[in-house]
Parts: sequence; C-alpha cells; structure tokens
Amino acid sequence: MKLFRFGSPIDTGAVTEKPLKYLQNEEIHGFRQKKTKNFLILRYHLEKDDVVMGLGEQMGGVNKRGRKYITYNTDIPEHTPDKLSLYGSHPFIVIKGRSNSGIFIDYPGEIIFDIGFTDIDILEITITSHDFDVYLWQNIRWQDIFTSYLELTGGVYIPPKWAFGYQQCRWSYPDANSVTEIASKFRQLGIPCDAIYLDIDYMQDYKVFTINKERFPDFGKFVKKLADDGFHLIPIIDPGVKIESGYHVYEEGKKNKYFCTDAKGINFEATVWPGLTHLPDFSNEAVRTWWGNLYEEFIKLGIEGFWNDMNEPAIFYTNYQKAEVYKNLKEAADNDKIEDIDLIALQWQIRNFHNSREDYQSIYQHPDNSETICHDQIHNLYGAQMALAFSDHVQKHYPEKRFLIFSRSSYSGSQRYAGIWYGDNKSWWQHLEMSIKMLINCNLVGYFYSGADIGGFGDHCQAELLLRWLQLGVFSPLFRNHSAIHTRHQELWEFDKKTLNISRNIIRLRYSLLPWLYSQFLEYASMNVPLIQPLFWSFEEERCQQIEDEFIYGTSLLIAPVYQPNATGRNVYLPDCNWLLWQVRSWEERKMQVLTAGDHYLDCPLDRQLVFIKENSLIALQEPEDHVDQIKPDTLFITGLVTSTASIKVLADQGKYPAFAGMAVLEINVECFGNDYNIKIKTVNRELLQWQNLIFELYNEQGKLIVKHRKLL
Ligand code: GLC
Repeated sequence: MKLFRFGSPIDTGAVTEKPLKYLQNEEIHGFRQKKTKNFLILRYHLEKDDVVMGLGEQMGGVNKRGRKYITYNTDIPEHTPDKLSLYGSHPFIVIKGRSNSGIFIDYPGEIIFDIGFTDIDILEITITSHDFDVYLWQNIRWQDIFTSYLELTGGVYIPPKWAFGYQQCRWSYPDANSVTEIASKFRQLGIPCDAIYLDIDYMQDYKVFTINKERFPDFGKFVKKLADDGFHLIPIIDPGVKIESGYHVYEEGKKNKYFCTDAKGINFEATVWPGLTHLPDFSNEAVRTWWGNLYEEFIKLGIEGFWNDMNEPAIFYTNYQKAEVYKNLKEAADNDKIEDIDLIALQWQIRNFHNSREDYQSIYQHPDNSETICHDQIHNLYGAQMALAFSDHVQKHYPEKRFLIFSRSSYSGSQRYAGIWYGDNKSWWQHLEMSIKMLINCNLVGYFYSGADIGGFGDHCQAELLLRWLQLGVFSPLFRNHSAIHTRHQELWEFDKKTLNISRNIIRLRYSLLPWLYSQFLEYASMNVPLIQPLFWSFEEERCQQIEDEFIYGTSLLIAPVYQPNATGRNVYLPDCNWLLWQVRSWEERKMQVLTAGDHYLDCPLDRQLVFIKENSLIALQEPEDHVDQIKPDTLFITGLVTSTASIKVLADQGKYPAFAGMAVLEINVECFGNDYNIKIKTVNRELLQWQNLIFELYNEQGKLIVKHRKLL
C-alpha cells in the first residue's frame, strides 16, 4: 500500500496507524490527475470486465459500475433509485479485474464517484478539495485489499452478545407502561427478544439527555424491571441541543463554547425535533469528553446500549432558510401574475430547505490542533465523532465492558467503534431487496454490525413483507424491527395468528443459530475479513459475479432470501460443490437434502426459508432461549454434509472488552469413512463452555443422516 498526501489534510481519525512514508502531491499510478481551482480529479480507465466494489452504505448494487455516487452524509427518508448519497460515507473502492486496485480517499467532505456513468469505461473521482490523503493498493489479491483497508482503519466493532438477539423498536411507544406491555407480550407469546428501544418519545420536549418524568416515572426501576426479564432498554440520542435557558446541556455547552458556530463565531442555530437547537462541535476533544460524560446519566441507571440518530447532522431548517421561503411566499401572494414556473421553483425551495447544503456551508467547527474549519469540509465526520465521544468515554471508564452503540451517520474508521443502521427505509419490497445488497456492501467496509429496519420504517407493512424481511434478518447481525409513528404497527402480534406463529419460528431459528453466528462474527472480525460476502468473494466462477441476491455468511452458509411478493419459491445458483439444503420451517425440523452445484428452482412457501450448508463444513445450533443471557442449554447440535473432512471452531468469549480476552474454543474435526465418521474434539478453556453434550447430525453424499452422540469432557 502507498500513501499519497495532497496539500495539508486534517486528521480525520479514520486511519489508526499512519504509514511512515508519504508521497507528496505525486502521480498515482494508473490514475490520470487533473487539478482545477477547487477540485482534484482522478481518472482511471476501466477494462470491460472490471468490477468496482466498495463505498459501503450507498445505493446501487454490489458491483457499482454504471452509476454516480456522492459522499456527503444526508438525512434522507426517501431511498429511491435516483439518490446519490445516504447517511454514511466510506470513500473506498476496490477494482477487481486484470490488475486489482484499491483506493481510499481520506477526505470527509464531498467526493463524486462517477463509476462509468458519464463514460462507460471511465472511473472519475472528483475530490472537492486539495487537502486529503489517498491510500492506494495495487496488484494484490482484491480480497486482501479489503482486509488491508480494515487493518488500516482499525478493524471491526464488536457489540455485546445480547445485541445479537432480536430487538423491538417503534417511534411512538408513549410511556413506560406501553414498553413494559410490549416486553410482557414477547414473554407471554414465547418469542425471544433482547432489547426494546426508546425513540424520542421518552425525552422531555425532545431535549437530549432528559427523561419525561410523567410518562417515565422512576426510570431506574423501569430499567431494572425490564432487565430482570432479560430486556435491554436502548434510548435514542440526538445531537441537537434545545436552546432553552436553565436546561443543563444547553447551559454547559454555551458556557464552555462547545457548539458549532457561524462564520462570525456566534452559535449556529438549526431546527430539529426540539425546535431551535445548537449542534455540539464533536471535532473537538473537550466537547467529546463532555458529551461522552452525559451518557452517564443513563449508564448509571443500568442502560447498556444507545442509538445515535440525526447525526449527519440533520437540519429541518434554519431561520435563514425559513425567512427566504417566507419572503418568496409573500412575494408570490402579493403578486397575482406569478407564473406556474415560479410556483414550481417555490415548491422546490420549500422541499429543499431541509438539510440544505448552504446551511452546512455556513457552519464552522473548531477541531483540536487545527484552525477553525468550515463544517462542509468535514461534514462526513460529524456522526462518526459523535459515536467516538461515547466510545472513548466507555473505554476510559468501563475498560472491561462492552456497550451497544450504533449510529445513523458514519465515516471510514468509525466501523471500529460503532455499528450503523441503514436509516429510514420504507415497507417496500424494493427496500427488502436493497437491504440484501446493503448488508453485503456494509460488511465489505467493516460494518459487520449493521442492518436495515426490518419490516420497513416508513409506510405500512404487510404480513408477508415482514416475514420475508425477518427471514433475511436471521442473518443480519443487527436484527431490529423498527417503524415510524403513524404507520401500521409491525410488532409480530399485530397481524394474524399464522404470521405470529411463523415469525416466532423465524426468531427462534436466529436464537438457535446464535452460538454459531456470533462465533463467526468474532472469527471474521479477528481476521478483518468481511463476514457477509458476495458469492464471488470465494467462488471464481464467472456466473457468481452476476449474483447479488444470494450471499455467503462466514465459512459455511449460503443464504438465498425470498424478496418478492407472492413468491412461493425462487431460483438459486449453487457454486462449486454440493450443498446441504435446509428448507427451514423451524429450528427443530432439521431434515436436509443434498443438492449439487448449479441452477435450481426451489420451493419456498412463506413459512420456510432457504439455508444452504457448504459441503465439508459444519454449523452449530442449540435450543433457543428467551433471551441471550438466559440459562444456557447444555446440548450443542453440529450438522453438515461431510464427504471427506470438515471442521468447525465455535468461539465463546466472555462478553468483556476486548472481545477476545479469555476466549473459550470448541474445535471439532470430522472425518468421513463411508457410512461412518471419526470425530475429534479439542477445547480451550473448557470450563467456560456451557455445553455437556454434543449431538452430531451428519449427512453423507447420498443424503443419509448419521447421528452420533459425544460427551464434552
Ligand atoms: C429518524 C430516525 C428514525 C427515528 C425518527 C424519530 O427518522 O432515522 O429511526 O425513529 O428519527 O426519532
């Protein structure tokens, strides 16, 4: 890898260890450079078969060719195909082709990636600055470029194990009673669940770090009561601080000059949920320390997880924008002869006064060791630095504890200390399909702990869509059902009985697979290799390059979600070897069948999902629990199609920070001899593994099931 430095960039914090050698303002091999007054443009000639991947949370597919993308974090509730930016910016791409290249442009302002949009064979990257770092990889395995990028940017965030459980969220749980009722409903109906969310409804007048005492009296007792029942409560945290005298967060921020300002140094004002607010300046360490400390108000009441929202930062409007609109509206009203075209322009102005670029250009920040800087140039760091405030705080004060933290906005590097969710999607089938690609794309840039709002956030969800989304969710590390106020409720019992029963089975499947899914998460994080991969990551067949609606989870699973309405089956391509097909209805029914490589049309009615286990690899399952930290089952089932030898490594950490401290390992090797199997078992830190019995359900090439029992000594 080579590092090129242009101008004098600020330290974005994306990279944890800077290479010692910088090449200053040099030509980047393979990229033609053009410098204009405000931009630097890099052009790369794409070969016909080059595949371009990366960019993390973005629209489009896994192969990013043919489109334009812009890194400029945006609060964007309409994820329609025309959108060029979403909530996160990860300006890193990998070109897989005759010569593999990777390029990471460490610049947290706007970058335009035109990937064969204007000219089908040209990749053109326009960086809207002259101050940035470029990291370049060339002529190594393209998969290794992803790993090297993750090493460079500090690896992968690992949340606590309970955060892999099912989570229920909705904007509009009005009070403590309604949350408690939701929790009891899960237990009554026997649906596993680990977390319930508090959206902005819990705050007093939407003031961050406050609690409405009437609707949430005795918050500490409330947290404890839920915890006793195995639920974590996860409050939302928004950055906008209400301008209200006497409100402690506002007063402290004002006194200490902790807020972003305008060009004249006056605290910048923006309207968000609470009304007029100031925005904390997270580019400054003192501000981050202060903000990190504010979470203590919740931590000391027993809260162990948070979701940071609205941190692009979202701006509903500023007084400046409002005045402009009012002025134009008044002019229009006063002027009878207004043309249609003027009205359209006015309509457009009203629509676009949210999150206006002009507003971002008028915000100023005061980072450590650097001069005042216009927010526009470091815009994409805002959410990442907000999450850093939390992460630094807990690492300092709770060095051994792991908290759940995920954010809406992100930047390269923040994947090492926080997860993300994919923002305000809709209850649309298209968004279910999009979330398959998003899972792959976000995993490729290290956001293993990420996921879409299951069931869709905006719009009204239907039962079938929810079920298909839950099925995909089993393999999404963040497994959260979330919906917006005024939409149809999408808690699992809000539909018919059949839907409830199917959804219970799906969630129980997730919990039964949890030891394995979690173990794989840890293992892939330790290797800095994406956990969820496109098929072509490890299967070189030309055909795999075309498949973006199937994915690989870790070492052994291929997942082919159904994402179309009224579908009772789907086409699946299986690469390379034989696969064990599990048409799962419930975790208990583990009747599987051997399929050969190639194309298959497979039945998949609504109560089933398609899971494939790769030949000569194994997976592990156990009886599902109500919640992750419940008393542990003592039997582990190991299953797979073993025709020669297969091994499995189940990692069980102690839930502490760092994740790999005191790891217990169960390692199994299985060797096939015709109709019999030889099994070897090894353990590390045996006393920390919960299982006493191992039940092997092994299939041979003919699909015959052979069951073996072993005691775990
Ligand atoms: C934003 C978030 C959404 C949340 C809502 C209200 O739209 O993305 O998840 O429910 O704000 O807080």
